[in-house]
Order: sequence, then structure tokens, then C-alpha cells
Amino acid sequence: MDRIIIQGGKPLRGSVEASGAKNAALPLLAAAILIDGPVCYRRIPHLRDISTMMTLLAWQGAEVSYDDQHCLHVDARPAAKPEAPYELVKTMRASAIVLGPLLTRFGRARVSLPGGCAIGARPIDMHLKGLEAMGASISVEQGDIVASASGRLQGARIVFDQVTVTGTENLMMAAVLASGETVLDNAAREPEIVNLADALNNLGARIKGAGSDCIRIQGVTRLDGGAITTIADRIETATYLAAGLITGGDVTVTDTDPGMLDAFLARVQDAGGTIETGTDYIRCASSGRLQAVDIHTRPHPGFPTDLQAQFMAMMTLAEGTSVIHESIFENRFMHVQELARMGADIRLDGNTAVVTGVPRISGAPVMATDLRASASLVLAGLAAGGETTVSRVYHIDRGYERIEEKLGKLGADITRHSVSENWMQGAKLNA
Ligand code: EPU
Repeated sequence: MDRIIIQGGKPLRGSVEASGAKNAALPLLAAAILIDGPVCYRRIPHLRDISTMMTLLAWQGAEVSYDDQHCLHVDARPAAKPEAPYELVKTMRASAIVLGPLLTRFGRARVSLPGGCAIGARPIDMHLKGLEAMGASISVEQGDIVASASGRLQGARIVFDQVTVTGTENLMMAAVLASGETVLDNAAREPEIVNLADALNNLGARIKGAGSDCIRIQGVTRLDGGAITTIADRIETATYLAAGLITGGDVTVTDTDPGMLDAFLARVQDAGGTIETGTDYIRCASSGRLQAVDIHTRPHPGFPTDLQAQFMAMMTLAEGTSVIHESIFENRFMHVQELARMGADIRLDGNTAVVTGVPRISGAPVMATDLRASASLVLAGLAAGGETTVSRVYHIDRGYERIEEKLGKLGADITRHSVSENWMQGAKLNA
């Protein structure tokens, strides 16, 4: 199991490229199941969740291969197993998004229920209700969702009780090859949804309104193969910008899209950070202490829950008191106790954290508990005096491609140590 070791206290400066977005790439890959031809995926990040999705597609019978670093070929025409077994699903909650595509293509699907998650219960009831409204019969058998439909799924009007990102994606994909029109109301508006709709439209789908809260999908009978490009990862982008800000540095992220990060950048500005944007880059800098600002997580275009932990890390060192309210997930404050071990002053009250900025924090051994919580610990480690060791970094590897290399390029003193390597070194010394 790898650990990341950081010698903190160095201002980060320079520029790094954004990778393709994990949360866009996952549904784009699941969409391969719907496509009647080979697909060439560009800008797919090398991440653990992506490998899991590729393994799942290959297990179903799809042909999956890389031709160079970031171009992935998938031809799902040979796929013949409309299933997602527990062994694969248990490591990645997003695997539930294969349900819509499998059901619409095969008329049946068996997908293991992903179970709980560190950040909350994360039910998928709205995905299932939507598929039922489109004519599917659904039951849960031995921990699996078993879904079937006689003939094509039928277009329907679906009103989500609550905004759901993968729920919107799942039903949008189910609707693409259904008969008639599907209307998704109170739909998620995240940029990843727009990426999926644009990609499917380029291959023959008829989707309108993605990016608004009402998406209309006119079912078609076939999608052709072609090329799909993943958008930049907005959460990764903001995490590197936060690395510059928390260390009093000056970081530029290139190959990204400032329009996807309006809420984050507005808060950075309120906190006194300097921001410069161009069509495809964002530069953030801070010279003195940031000012405390409040945040309230909301679905896009609100402040993303996926940046709450990283913003909290910044606020631990800000001047004043910041109130951080998490409204998307019920258990997304697992980083609080770890930040407290580094000297942060944070009081928790239900879904609200009150962060009183301190002038300095100090390095400590800390433990990653989920993807974004881990990123916040890395940020705190970069700003802290002395050494921070972050263990269980497999969480980080789910969503940050080459994190130590990218931070190293910005001047961070960060190294990865694998326990097996240490064991080998120990073995050599003892020999
Ligand atoms: N919800 C339900 N029922 C459902 C679906 C969702 O009650 O059927 C609830 C959830 O429990 C949660 C809220 O609705 O309280 C919103 O959940 P949503 O469905 O939007 O989350 P998701 O689609 O499972 C995606 C991202 C998450 C991100 C959230 C919110 C992917 C693969 N995952 O999850 O990303 O936090 O949207 O923006 O797109 C991450 O990258 O670290 C991550 C967790």
C-alpha cells in the first residue's frame, strides 16, 4: 500500500496541464455499450476507476485497447454479457451507470448494487424509478439489480426528486435508443453531462437541453462509432490552483476551462486570491494570508461538493472564521479529524464545519479516507511545516493522475513510497 510523503512549506509556482475528467470519462466509457461501431476515446485519464470501467467492459466482451498514452479504443459490438459483477462494482460506485446502457441495448441487465460509500449512503433509487417509468421491471436479487424490458424502452417524462449527476447520465443513456421522447426534469447541469450529450449527439443521438435542468432526448435506432473527447477535469484543475493558493504561490493550470469553475473562482476572489483566466487556462496566486470565506456546496453551477475538502484545507490557514456547509453528502467531513491532527481548528456541527484559521499547521502522519478528503490532506501537507505522511493513497489514485509528478513540477517536495519497496530495501539491508 503506497504512502505519500511531503516536506511542506514551499510556495508552489509554475504550470501544469489538466488531465481528462474522471467523472466525464466514466459515463462516456459506459456509453460505448450503446454504440454500434468502434469508438476512439481521447483524453482518458490513467486512473484506477477508469481501469475498473475498462475491465468491466472487457469482461462484458467488448474489445478494449490503448494505442498510445491517452487514446483508448473500445468496440462494444461483441459484448454479450449484460452484467456487472460485485467483484468489479464494489470498488467503484459509478459502475451503476452501465445499467441504463445495458438495459437499452440488451433488454435485460444484472448489475450488482454498489453498497455504501465513505461519503454517504448514496442510494440509486432515482435511477431505478426512472428506468421503471421507461417500462423496465426491476427487482433486487442476491445483492444485484435485475432489470428487464420487453422490447425497446419507452420514452417517458421523468422528474428527479433531487438533482443526481449519474442518475441523469444513466437515464440519458437509456433514453438515447428508447422509442419516442424522454424528458428529464430537474436534471443535473454539470459540465460532464454536457460532455456526454455532445459526444452522443456527434454519433447520431438527438439530445437537447444538456446543461439546463430540462433535457429532451428523442430516441434513435442506432449510434455510429467515432471519436469522443473527454473535457478537462475541473476538480483536478481547482485542486492544483488550491495548491498554489494554500502555499502562498502562483500556479497556472493549462488545457482547462475557466467557465466550469465559476463558483470556485468567485470564492477564491472573495478570499483575496489573484485570478487570471484565458480561454483555456487559469492562474491563481496569493501573496499573504487568504481571508476566511463561507461556502455552501450545491449542484452545478453552485460550489461543488468535490471541492469542499480542498477549500476547507485552504481555510484552515485563512484569516478569520469560515463556515462550510455540505449539502450534497451526509458524511463528507472525514478529513476534519485528520486536518485537526495537523493543528487545524475546526468545529463540526452536523453538516456544517466552522473553521477558525490558524497562522500555521504542522506536518503529521494522516490517513486518506476518500478521494477528495485525501486531496485536502495533500494540500494541507504542502502548506504545513515539516513532514506529512499520507497513507492509503489508493483513494487519491482513483481521481488524480500522476499527482506527485504534477505537484513536483510545481516545486513541491513530494514522494511516493510503496510498502513493498520499503520491505525490499529492508530485505537487502538484512541480507
Ligand atoms: N441520491 C439519491 N438517490 C439517487 C441518486 C442520488 O438519494 O438515486 C442522492 C445522493 O445520495 C446524494 C445526492 O443525491 O446525496 C447527489 O448524488 P449524485 O447522484 O449527484 O452523485 P453521484 O452521481 O453518485 C457524482 C460524482 C461524485 C460527485 C457527485 C455530486 C461521478 C462518477 N461521481 O456522484 O464525484 O460528488 O456527483 O456532484 O460522477 C468524486 O469525484 O469524488 C465524487 C464523489
